Parts: sequence; C-alpha cells; structure tokens
Amino acid sequence: MLPDELKIAVFASGRGSNFEAILNAIQTGKIRNARIVLVISNNAEAGALTVARSNGIPALLKQRNDFSSEKAFAEALLRVLESYSVNFIVLAGYLKKIAPEIISRFRDHIINIHPALLPAFGGKGMYGHLVHQAVIAARSPISGATIHLVDEEYDKGPIVLQKSVKVSPDDTEEGLAEKILSIEHELYPEAIRLFAEGRIHLDGRHVTIMK
Ligand code: GRF
Repeated sequence: MLPDELKIAVFASGRGSNFEAILNAIQTGKIRNARIVLVISNNAEAGALTVARSNGIPALLKQRNDFSSEKAFAEALLRVLESYSVNFIVLAGYLKKIAPEIISRFRDHIINIHPALLPAFGGKGMYGHLVHQAVIAARSPISGATIHLVDEEYDKGPIVLQKSVKVSPDDTEEGLAEKILSIEHELYPEAIRLFAEGRIHLDGRHVTIMK
C-alpha cells in the first residue's frame, strides 16, 4: 500500500536545475504519489522561483531580514508550510541553515543533495564550487552526489543514496561540477520516488531501501 501522497515544499536559492529535474520526473509520471505544492527561496533572483511560476506552482520569497528574529522567521515558515499541507521538504541548492524548529517539526521528512560523497567534503562552508575545489585539491580519484536526511548538523544526517563519478587529473572545478550535476538530476528524482513509494526505512541512522 502506498503511503500518504508527498506534498513537497522545495527550498532553493539559485538556478533550480534540481528542482526542474524533480518536477519533470513528476510531470512525466516517473515519480508518482508526489506533488510539489510550494517553492520557497531566500533569493528574489532565483531561477527556481521563475521555474515554479511558469509551472503554476506557488513561489514565495522568504527572507530572514523581513523578520525580527530567527524564531519569528522559523515560525512564519512553519505557518506557510502548514497552510500548504506540506509533509516533505526538499532542499535543492538552499544556502540557508534550516531552523531547529523546522527540523524537529519535519524530522526525517527533509532531504538535501550535496555535490560530493559525504561524509567527505561536507560541513559548514562546503558548498558550491568550494566543494569541487576541495576535491580537486585533495587529488581524490572519485567524487559524486549524496542525498541525505537533514538533521541539526550540516551534511551529517543519514545517507539515503549516493552515486560516484571519476575525477580525472585534468578536471577543472567547472567540469567536475557539470559532471556531478548531471548525476544529481538522476539521483534526486530517484530518491524522491523511493520516499513516495514508502520504500525508505529508517532505523536510527541507518537507511534501508525496501524492495
Ligand atoms: C547543486 O549542485 C546541489 O548539489 C547544491 O547546489 C546546487 C544547486 O543547483 N546543493 P541547482 O540550483 O539545483 O541548479
């Protein structure tokens, strides 16, 4: 039996290509039992907001500076999430830390994508091209993408799916980012499909994918 339909809020700060890949997988029926009901961004210029609007998905700009405190900001976000009956949060290039109030309300129902193989090359400050720069500087022969559950610590939540790519000695940061982005676009929809089908089982920090 399928679990309740995933009513997804996507949080995105930038271009929004992962959001687009997920939306496409839903629209073409690769992911069933899931809908994106809302997109939230902290950046008025985010491509993700444009993509949402052109697909008729509510797209909201929510910025910390418009609120008197972190707590007031978190409470406002929680109210919005509630008003759209969101039951699952997908972070797709969202550059702000998620408030503890939101993490505890959506515990085990928030996922993130990281453009490297966690637990390596993750943590505070490891985002965007800095990740690929660090991988190349370390002469790591592989990198990749990781989908993980979000908890209170940056990039530390249980790992759901990973896929690797080879790093060649002449890879540039941009080239590596591009290689990894193309696997992100496969991996993120795949992870959401597994959640929507109720096939992700979490036991403590251990994720099992049910057949
Ligand atoms: C991706 O590389 C993702 O791994 C990272 O931020 C980037 C977002 O890209 N967290 P996009 O906005 O989805 O195109």
